[in-house]
Amino acid sequence: MQIFLDSTDTKVIADLASTGLVDGVTTNPTLIAKAGRPMLEVIAEICDLVPGPISAEVAATTADAMIAEGQKLASIAPNVVVKLPLTRDGLIACAAFAGEGISTNVTLCFSATQALLAAKAGATFISPFIGRLDDYGFDGTDLIRDIRTIYDNYGYETEILAASVRNVAHVKEAAIVGADVVTIPPSVFADLFKHPLTDKGLEQFLKDWAGTGQSIL
Ligand code: E4P
Repeated sequence: MQIFLDSTDTKVIADLASTGLVDGVTTNPTLIAKAGRPMLEVIAEICDLVPGPISAEVAATTADAMIAEGQKLASIAPNVVVKLPLTRDGLIACAAFAGEGISTNVTLCFSATQALLAAKAGATFISPFIGRLDDYGFDGTDLIRDIRTIYDNYGYETEILAASVRNVAHVKEAAIVGADVVTIPPSVFADLFKHPLTDKGLEQFLKDWAGTGQSIL
């Protein structure tokens, strides 16, 4: 399973990328606003930091304007993935980019049939939003399971990118039901390393080791 960071904080991205465990990055207009810097500059920096797919989202709402914005975003670096909303116009733009060999991430997916349309439009990634569905009393994991079944039934190659991930349990569930990618905020990435029994076990091992008086080097 690939792990993407859902962030525009270049310092944090650089730090976490140094673990060798970050395969890509996703951004959205809210995260760009949070960065408080010009979008094109932020995306270019992230593309330099992480060699994998970097999603940059269009702000237009009509297909022609999305295509124009997406082409500009794609020209920033070869690893830019044009992020498009799951609307009728978004999928028209998606199909156009597929024809040009430009990678796309279709975002704001909340139903399996939306995901089916995105695959038919040739999306590289589909982003079902787990956390936002859970917020409304639905089960985001069920959506990913359904999309997995549909894509496998027909051999669609669109990768399922579990988004709107709020905690470690979401990551585990997405992995179990077969998401190809999970995009996570830096705080969730940090939490993935942690377990109280790891801390407790290590403390005991270090204490016992110190008692031996030995040194490996
Ligand atoms: C990623 O591509 C999405 O934009 C992001 O995961 C949305 O997360 P949120 O629901 O926490 O805003």
